[in-house]
Amino acid sequence: MTKLLTMALVTLGMALASGALADDLPGGKCLECHLTVDDGVGELWEDDIHARAGIGCDACHGGDSMQDHSDLAKRSGTGYQGELSAREIVSSCGGCHSDVEYMKERKPLLPVDQLEKYWTSEHGKLLVKGETRVAQCVSCHGAHGVREVNDAKSPVYASNVPATCGGCHGDAEYMSDFDIKTDQYDEYVQSVHGKALLEKNDVRGAPACNDCHGNHGAAPPSIDAITNICGTCHSYNAELFLGSPLAPAFKEKSLADCVACHGKHLIRHVAEEWEGEKPGSTCRKCHEEGEEGSDLALYFTETFGSVRLAFDDIEQLLGEVEVKGMDVTEGEDYVEAARQGLMQARTLMHAFSKPVMEEKVSEISANQAAALEVGYAALQGLKDRRRGLAISTLLLLLLTLGVAIKIRTLPPFD
Ligand code: HEC
Ligand code: HEC
Ligand code: HEC
Ligand code: HEC
Ligand code: HEC
Ligand code: HEC
Ligand code: HEC
Ligand code: HEC
Ligand code: HEC
Repeated sequence: MTKLLTMALVTLGMALASGALADDLPGGKCLECHLTVDDGVGELWEDDIHARAGIGCDACHGGDSMQDHSDLAKRSGTGYQGELSAREIVSSCGGCHSDVEYMKERKPLLPVDQLEKYWTSEHGKLLVKGETRVAQCVSCHGAHGVREVNDAKSPVYASNVPATCGGCHGDAEYMSDFDIKTDQYDEYVQSVHGKALLEKNDVRGAPACNDCHGNHGAAPPSIDAITNICGTCHSYNAELFLGSPLAPAFKEKSLADCVACHGKHLIRHVAEEWEGEKPGSTCRKCHEEGEEGSDLALYFTETFGSVRLAFDDIEQLLGEVEVKGMDVTEGEDYVEAARQGLMQARTLMHAFSKPVMEEKVSEISANQAAALEVGYAALQGLKDRRRGLAISTLLLLLLTLGVAIKIRTLPPFD
């Protein structure tokens, strides 16, 4: 009995809340009635950007939103569209969003190219051919509860994009009729980019799927475009690579710039892994031992190896003298400069030129040598200080001894 009563109260509460909602939001009788239908639309509508912009249900579904009765609301002649097909969705959403005049009046800064780009995407091209399992507007944005793209709860907010795309592309069963791999999401999540976006929350810096594939024109980037895509963020690497002897060679052999060495989705932090001259390493994938490419690889590995090793000795020395109270700030500055230099050298490697690297390495070595000098000078200073201490201790001892002797020779008190 109490249970029934509670239920009745809850229903009444919901009805009241619904009434309040329906009053505030566009949707007329459609919304009023659908808030009582268990389809979840009413709840989502509350957070929908279109609802907030005063757009009603009939903008997408047609129908007569003044009618209390469902059959009347959806009677023929009202343009009612219940279930929208994938193509209808694209033309419905795309219709307003590509209407320059309409958008200019409502949100002038919002791009109006989504539809046009969509038709150039692999998704759009397949949809035209009748394939409805591809992504269309609603797959990525939702139908109700559509949010602004920079709202952290939007499915296309940077850190949600990988899961949105991965929802299909990582689902082997869903994709089984298509002749493409389903490893992109899993690989991306483990990559340096995926970790930066999803673990460090670097939503501004790190690329999500759409930064490389585009928002609406999603297609595998053509080989020629890859340098530009990676180069939007790694611009100096791209510039150096394009000026290197590898660029024309890659073009001639149709090798994918950047990606042939780094991979596309599982891009890792490279520093310690590429092991230049070893079989199976980055360079040895394409160069036999003794070839010019392999020789340069060997030079890079040995040079980077010895530069990295030198840091260990320097830091040990500076650490030791610092603990004993010597000021080594100047030495630490040289170390910092050398470390910066090594970072630049990793980028400069993309010129694939020995003279370019030699110049940088001599600058790094000069800073390392200067740091060592500071360390040794401090060590010497420490020795001098110790010697000075020893001498003054000795003098003090002699003085004490002298005083003691003097005391003995004095006549006793009485
Ligand atoms: C008096 C209640 C009521 C009104 C008014 C109403 N609907 Fe419905 N609507 C329903 C119910 C109940 C369903 C569940 C499906 C069914 O059995 O018809 C439904 C289904 C739908 C569907 C799912 C597809 C379909 O056709 O089954 C859409 C879309 C829809 N309504 C949109 C609208 C729109 C737009 C309006 C206003 C123009 C509207 N509804 C007015 C009750 C209503
Ligand atoms: C911006 C366009 C748009 C507006 C506005 C809109 N809908 Fe929809 N609605 C759609 C699309 C697209 C689908 C199909 C979704 C799909 O296929 O997954 C849909 C599906 C539905 C369904 C079927 C069940 C479901 O959730 O898929 C119902 C019911 C519905 N809409 C009711 C409404 C009501 C009621 C309103 C107003 C409160 C409304 N819609 C406003 C685009 C819209
Ligand atoms: C494959 C997923 C996907 C599909 C399909 C898709 N979008 Fe988008 N959409 C996105 C992403 C990702 C963004 C950008 C988010 C950002 O800028 O951070 C976006 C942004 C937008 C924006 C904000 C303005 C802009 O262009 O950046 C609008 C409006 C929009 N989409 C509408 C649409 C319409 C209309 C369709 C269907 C014709 C559609 N989208 C299809 C993923 C998609
Ligand atoms: C009746 C015209 C109309 C239709 C149909 C329509 N939209 Fe919109 N949409 C708008 C307007 C106007 C805005 C801007 C609202 C605002 O911010 O004031 C908007 C905003 C958006 C935004 C937020 C963009 C931003 O500011 O970040 C997205 C995403 C979006 N719509 C996607 C869709 C999708 C997906 C569909 C289809 C399910 C759709 N729209 C259908 C008119 C429409
Ligand atoms: C609703 C499921 C779905 C969603 C969501 C989706 N896709 Fe797709 N995508 C597909 C299907 C299906 C294909 C067609 C596969 C083929 O090309 O044979 C495809 C094709 C592609 C292709 C072309 C692949 C090729 O080599 O032919 C790219 C690139 C792509 N999608 C990227 C994306 C990105 C990026 C996102 C997110 C912004 C995304 N997709 C979201 C289903 C989806
Ligand atoms: C750093 C850039 C980058 C990011 C981030 C990225 N991709 Fe890719 N993607 C590429 C490149 C480059 C290719 C391959 C082009 C080639 O080989 O010609 C590719 C290819 C694809 C393909 C075609 C099939 C294949 O595997 O070759 C799909 C589908 C795809 N990516 C989906 C995704 C999805 C989903 C995400 C997010 C989880 C994503 N990509 C993130 C650069 C990227
Ligand atoms: C939207 C910007 C953006 C795009 C596009 C992008 N990256 Fe990155 N990349 C980053 C950021 C940010 C990091 C640093 C991640 C971290 O560790 O915090 C990074 C890290 C890397 C690293 C590791 C660097 C290291 O220190 O070891 C490599 C290698 C790399 N990216 C290669 C690529 C390649 C190849 C492409 C194109 C297929 C690409 N990136 C596209 C932003 C981008
Ligand atoms: C994806 C294949 C591939 C990878 C990986 C690769 N190279 Fe090459 N490289 C080539 C091709 C192709 C040429 C053109 C000459 C040839 O056919 O050997 C070339 C040429 C060179 C040249 C110019 C030599 C000449 O004959 O003009 C140098 C130097 C070089 N590579 C260095 C490297 C280094 C260092 C690495 C590792 C960091 C590397 N390459 C990795 C494919 C590759
Ligand atoms: C021939 C192979 C090869 C090609 C082509 C290549 N890289 Fe690299 N890249 C490497 C190797 C090897 C390293 C690691 C050097 C080290 O840390 O010791 C590296 C390091 C990097 C780093 C980390 C160091 C830094 O600069 O911050 C980034 C980022 C990077 N590459 C981006 C790119 C981009 C973008 C492209 C395309 C324009 C590209 N690479 C082309 C082999 C290559």
